[in-house]
Amino acid sequence: MRKPVLAGNWKMYKTPAETRSFFEAFKPLVRDATHCDIVICPPFPNLPAAVDESKGTSIAIGAQNLYWGKEGAVTGEVSGHMLQAIGCSYVIIAHSERRQYFGECEADVVRKTQAALEYGLTPIVCVGERLEEREGSRTEDVLAAQFDGGLAPLAPEHFAKIVIAYEPVWAIGTGKTATPQIAADAHRFIRQKVAKKFGETLASSARILYGGSVKPDNVSSLMAEEEIDGALVGGASLDPKSFAAVVKY
Ligand code: PGA
Repeated sequence: MRKPVLAGNWKMYKTPAETRSFFEAFKPLVRDATHCDIVICPPFPNLPAAVDESKGTSIAIGAQNLYWGKEGAVTGEVSGHMLQAIGCSYVIIAHSERRQYFGECEADVVRKTQAALEYGLTPIVCVGERLEEREGSRTEDVLAAQFDGGLAPLAPEHFAKIVIAYEPVWAIGTGKTATPQIAADAHRFIRQKVAKKFGETLASSARILYGGSVKPDNVSSLMAEEEIDGALVGGASLDPKSFAAVVKY
């Protein structure tokens, strides 16, 4: 059985003080939630506050990006080494906003994923098609290319430690959730790719999250699909009550 992961991606929202207020309200709401792994990914400056607030709870803290080197003359970047040192345990890699606005490509996925694992971080690697790709019936081609370029080059023992997030770009922040059927079909396709490359055992244990306008009122229908192993949640993770409702789907 795959343990679900419910991960909040705060994107570029909240200050450290707002982070602390969130946790004060959120912690009591999810105290008994042991059925899933809970992850919160705030912006970099809020990570120390989030790590501090999550002490003594089962809530894990993740970053939203990392650089693949340990340290060096790389202005504006943050390394896995630094994230590990402050107590992070997850990191989101190749979110579609990073692919779209910062040109992240499959080669980045490979080196960032390897770097994350080197520093003990669990990578949440994002894949997903854009609207014109879905409308042009190219969803599977896009997912196949992202898998072949970004995930297939990983060593099997590395692949075994990652979490995949299927996030159709047309569903992110738009209020247009993929139907459970659309999401499950995409997950099944990705799992078949995993099986072909890494074998049935790794395919059946790979955790594939869905992301894109997941809210308290649609999470249970998504989670009812056997293929869907959790969610990566943007907007609905910013409010403690709403994210707690998602966690307790
Ligand atoms: P959303 O974002 O839930 O606001 O659509 C999801 C994501 O981008 O991870």
